[in-house]
Amino acid sequence: MGGAGQADVEGGELSDQPWGGRFGEEPDPLIDRFTRSLAVDSRLYREDIAGSRAYAKALVGAGVLTAEEQLRIDLALQEIQSEFSPPPFTGEGRVGAASNPPPLAGEAASYPPPLAGEGTVGASEDIHMAVEDRLRQKLGPLGGKLHTGRSRNDQVAVDLRLYVKTAGAQLIDAVSGLESALIARAEEHLDTVMPGYTHTQRAQPVLLAHHLLAYVEMLHRDRGRIQDALNRADVSPLGAGALAGSGFPIDRTALAHELGFAAAAANSLDAVADRDFALELLAACSIAMVHLSRLCGEIVLWTSVEFSFAALPDALASGSSMMPNKKNPCAAELVRAKSGRVAGDLMNLLMVLKGLPLAYNRDLQEDKEALFDGVDTTIVCLQVAARLVLGLQFDRDLMRTAALSGYTLATEAADYLSRKGLPFRDAHRVVGQMVARGIATHQGLEDFSLEELQQFSPLFSADVFDYLTLEGALKSRDVLGGTAPARVKEALARVKA
Ligand code: ARG
Repeated sequence: MGGAGQADVEGGELSDQPWGGRFGEEPDPLIDRFTRSLAVDSRLYREDIAGSRAYAKALVGAGVLTAEEQLRIDLALQEIQSEFSPPPFTGEGRVGAASNPPPLAGEAASYPPPLAGEGTVGASEDIHMAVEDRLRQKLGPLGGKLHTGRSRNDQVAVDLRLYVKTAGAQLIDAVSGLESALIARAEEHLDTVMPGYTHTQRAQPVLLAHHLLAYVEMLHRDRGRIQDALNRADVSPLGAGALAGSGFPIDRTALAHELGFAAAAANSLDAVADRDFALELLAACSIAMVHLSRLCGEIVLWTSVEFSFAALPDALASGSSMMPNKKNPCAAELVRAKSGRVAGDLMNLLMVLKGLPLAYNRDLQEDKEALFDGVDTTIVCLQVAARLVLGLQFDRDLMRTAALSGYTLATEAADYLSRKGLPFRDAHRVVGQMVARGIATHQGLEDFSLEELQQFSPLFSADVFDYLTLEGALKSRDVLGGTAPARVKEALARVKA
């Protein structure tokens, strides 16, 4: 025991680490810095204190604390909560700072924690020790009773589940914000026609409202996925101890309910080792981000000179440092890119968990940066996307003109011939020949005279011109989920309700 240059003490008063009793050497500074997590997990201080307050009550039930002791602990924990808001810790030990702005005004603004300025308990290894160290400063030996029958393994698991429940609610709020923005714009554009695309080639006319409501459907599923993740996260690991279950008669179910969980985890090993609730939330975030990347990718296309379907107000765009002509949709581009970042966060956590033997492993400390980053990124991107959607200035006339060019009524002509009895395959070939002629003679299908149309098929009669218009084309898509104006109005009413 005790290498040269290191203090060599038996019986372990040497280190102020919680495990000092067994250790005869001071921690190596590099290893010490490397293993700390306070700079990342300090944002869990509220969850940690909530967990501890509930746990102290459970310790009264277990006969470990008197009611008077529990009250003193509770008051001290409440004081610590105000002292820690925002967390006063240094950024020591921090590897890689998160580059997201705080997701929401108010409390979340304390993240990332300040890098400078010694805090009162800056030496603590993680947020759990920071709270406990401060408690012991305040209460002396009584503060040391709180951890009876508890491990940081069940403690960090409960903190993280409480965090997921809060974060999930914030995510759902942000999803709702974007849904409302899309719905408001759809309502405004119930009669704006645009080309619908396949292969990024003009295909058939659709209503802009229909296009925007497609994103509302995606977001609705995203909300469902987040809610599912929250339902499965709603289980309390507290009382599982380090891995085998607490050695004190904790009423785990009452404790779970005290913390607002639906139930207590059924298996102590699973309780401390499981992080699939975090994976699930990150998976839901990743899928939502893929949706945002598609929306923002379209905003980039639409605001290009090539499309010119929409413009962004100056306040929502950025300029170029060199080219005075530029107005760039930078925020939309960044949302598109950050979808990759969140998918990376999901991969990060999947790889942390892969192959880990039961139960707790220190690897699990690495869950937080990925989870926090994924959630923060998704929330801010949802907010940014909502702002962009609300700001888009659509050029209705240009979109309408674009909707008609590219022979987008060809399917209407083929459907017309089919309704007159021609097998669809033959109708498709006939109209294909009409399109080829139109390209050669620079005419749209709607520009052909009845006589010209009849050269392609005698089945054409004067009523064909009712179909060869944008309004006719839209009206004919009159099925559930189609772009017929009446159907889109119905869909809008449904999503509003
Ligand atoms: N900071 C750790 C984490 O985030 C919790 C501490 C568990 N440490 C331990 N030695 N069992 O996972």
